[in-house]
Amino acid sequence: MAGLKAVILGGKTGMLGRALLDAALKMGLDALPLGREDYDMLDADSLARMVDREEPDLLFNAIAYTNVDKAEEEEDQAQAVNACLPGNLARLAKAHGFQLIHFSTDFVFDGKNRSTPYLENDEPNPLCAYGRTKLAGERKILEVDPDRFCIVRTAWLFGPGRKNFVKTMLTLAQDRDELRVVHDQIGSPTYTPDLASLSLALAELDVRGIFHAANSGVASWCELAAEAISLGGFNTTVTAIPTEEYPTPAARPAYSVLDTTKLVKITGVTPRPWVQALRDYVYLMSGTES
Ligand SMILES: NC(=O)c1ccc[n+]([C@@H]2O[C@H](COP(=O)([O-])OP(=O)(O)OC[C@H]3O[C@@H](n4cnc5c(N)ncnc54)[C@H](OP(=O)(O)O)[C@@H]3O)[C@@H](O)[C@H]2O)c1
Repeated sequence: MAGLKAVILGGKTGMLGRALLDAALKMGLDALPLGREDYDMLDADSLARMVDREEPDLLFNAIAYTNVDKAEEEEDQAQAVNACLPGNLARLAKAHGFQLIHFSTDFVFDGKNRSTPYLENDEPNPLCAYGRTKLAGERKILEVDPDRFCIVRTAWLFGPGRKNFVKTMLTLAQDRDELRVVHDQIGSPTYTPDLASLSLALAELDVRGIFHAANSGVASWCELAAEAISLGGFNTTVTAIPTEEYPTPAARPAYSVLDTTKLVKITGVTPRPWVQALRDYVYLMSGTES
C-alpha cells in the first residue's frame, strides 16, 4: 500500500481518525487528514470537490456525530453526519473508483436476551437515535452497492486525543474516593491504535462487506473503570451499580459484544485483549496527559 493516497476524514481531531493517520503514515501511505476547516463534508458539492481535488485511492470515514445522549434531541443533525454523509461518500467512491472504509457501531444492536457475541449478519435493532442514524449510514452505503465497500463496526473506544470513558474515569479518580459505575452493560472495549491497525489490514486486503473489529475480551463499564483506576495507581473504590441508578437520555444495549471471528480469519490477526491495550494507554497517559 506504500505510496497510495489515503484521505482520512476526521484525521485531524477525531479519536479514531488520528490513530488511523498515525497507522497510515507508519505503513508508508500518502495520508491526508481532513477536517471541518478543509471542506463542508455535509454539502454534497463540497464533498465532490474534495474528491476531485484530492483524488484518493482509499478514503477512511472516521467522521461521526458521536454524542450518544445529545443525538436524542438532535437526531436530524446526527442523521446528516452519520447517514447522509456515508451515502454521499459511497456514491463518490463508486463513481471515482476509490476504496471506502467506513466505521459503525455496536449500538446498532439491542442486546436484548443476548449473551453471545454479535455476528456481522445478526439482526440490528438500535435502541437510541445515535444507533438508528449509524445503522441508516450502513444501509445508505449498501444501497449504493451491496458488494463494494468495507464497513467496520467497532465498540467502546478509548485512546489518545479526545475525551473518552477511560480518560473520564482516570480524571474523576484524582479527586474522588468512590466512583459508582454501571455493571449491567457488557461490551468490547477497544483501543484506537489497535483498531487503526486492524482497519489498515482490512484495507490492504481490499475486503468488502461488514466486519466487526474490537480488542479481545469483554467487560462491563464498571470492570473497565476498575481496571483503568487500578492501572493508574489510584485508591478510588469502584462500586458496581445497575443502569437504573445512572439514567441517561439514550438507551444503551445491555450486551453488545462483537464477534471478531470473520476479521481474524481474513486478516490472520487476533486482536490482543483489551486489558493489555488498556495498560499501554494508561501508561501513555501518565506520561503525556493526552
Ligand atoms: N467512541 C466510541 O466509543 C465509538 C464506539 C463505536 C463506534 N464508534 C464509531 O467510530 C468512529 C470514530 O469515532 P470517534 O470516537 O473517533 O469519534 P470522535 O472522536 O467523536 O471524532 C468525530 C470526528 O468527526 C468530526 N465531525 C463530526 N461532525 C462533523 C461535521 N459535521 N463535519 C466535519 N467533521 C465532523 C469531528 O470533528 P470536530 O473535532 O471538528 O468536531 C471529529 O473529527 C465513528 O464512526 C463512531 O460512530 C465510536
